[in-house]
Amino acid sequence: MLIDIIAGARPNFIKIAPIIEAIETQQNAGVNIQYRLVHTGQHYDKKMSGDFFEQLNIPAPHYNLEVGSGTQAEQTGKIMVGYEKLLLEKPCDLCIVVGDVTSTMACSIAAKKVNNIKVAHVEGGIRSGDWTMPEEINRIVTDSITDYFFTTSKVANMNLQKAGVKHEQIFFVGNTMIDTLYKQMPRFAKPVIWDKYGLQEKGYIVMTLHRPNNVDSKETLKELVMEIIDASNGLPLVFPVHPRTAKMLETTGIEASNLYVIEPLGYLEFNYLVKNAKAVITDSGGITEETTVMGIPCMTLRNSTERPETCTVGTNELLGTNPKSVAPAFERLFAGEWKKGEIPELWDGKTAERIIKNIISIFTLN
Ligand code: UD1
Ligand code: UDP
Repeated sequence: MLIDIIAGARPNFIKIAPIIEAIETQQNAGVNIQYRLVHTGQHYDKKMSGDFFEQLNIPAPHYNLEVGSGTQAEQTGKIMVGYEKLLLEKPCDLCIVVGDVTSTMACSIAAKKVNNIKVAHVEGGIRSGDWTMPEEINRIVTDSITDYFFTTSKVANMNLQKAGVKHEQIFFVGNTMIDTLYKQMPRFAKPVIWDKYGLQEKGYIVMTLHRPNNVDSKETLKELVMEIIDASNGLPLVFPVHPRTAKMLETTGIEASNLYVIEPLGYLEFNYLVKNAKAVITDSGGITEETTVMGIPCMTLRNSTERPETCTVGTNELLGTNPKSVAPAFERLFAGEWKKGEIPELWDGKTAERIIKNIISIFTLN
């Protein structure tokens, strides 16, 4: 059996690493299961792509579609054309897509339209309800043509059932991003900025921002960052900046003695910082899951989340996008009033193993 594994953007690399490892374990046990790793090229900077392959020991992709950046439609179109060409030369038996980025949706469509190739969606079924986010459209479109759904929560199962997906197509397996987190935790590495900025355990805040709603307008970005600086009580704010945010942040001209703007960090360095932070303020999806597992207070600058368990079970809280909500949240943090949180069901580091065992059983490979 030949499986295509699709990855295009930073969070995808973290999610596919344990899936590849689980396939290789089964290969070594004699199961007839082969894979091709297809990198779409949606993210391409070393700090957004290559570093993750090195640090997480992901094999070099068999194919790189090298689509690069573009508008939503340009990127979708280029990925579909590139992946279709590959499938026409040599089709696969199953296409595994992960997460909710443009590469996820584009490859699932291409796979389905070439010989009705089966599609498996890892992290299927999650919904924010916010149709202004490109990711929500990616999720809805992908899930509308997915055959096998590997879900991170029971809420995702319910969303799928409400949409008419059959019970036997849904596999509640947990979270592959957390497989990687547990596996790599012993290797987390102190970043060089630790000593440079004199950081101390629980003595700084990590921030990340990259959602178009927060960073594509100079005024919005400026107002948000200013509010965070004002609310921070002078605690160091370490801000590894996503390339989408970098140019806009520069135009704001914001500077503060406790604001440390740095390039995106490698996975091992970034999560070392998160694990030792007092709190994280972010608009990322994946980071809300990692902070939940590491028990770090997390403030999310969004009005909705497709990962409700990070709030109901974990340490995450939605502050919304009004900058005025930042100060009261920091006050509660400094008063020691942040919730402690627990780890969601099946986020145990064994998700990829379960996914591949299910695939072996679906395709009766043993
Ligand atoms: C994408 C995903 C988002 C995910 C994020 C993870 C979609 C619609 N969005 O957003 O869900 O949370 O990745 O980081 O798929 N750029 C570079 N170098 C790179 C990559 C991007 O400079 O290696 C810059 C380019 O100017 C590009 C911009 O970042 O136009 C946005 O990149 P893009 O992949 O379109 O979306 P992200 O904002 O990264
Ligand atoms: N991450 C990283 N370095 C950084 C910022 C994030 O390694 O400088 C990791 C983070 O630990 C998580 C993933 O990137 O595993 C989250 O990606 P991102 O926030 O870009 O996307 P999202 O999860 O919002 O789709």
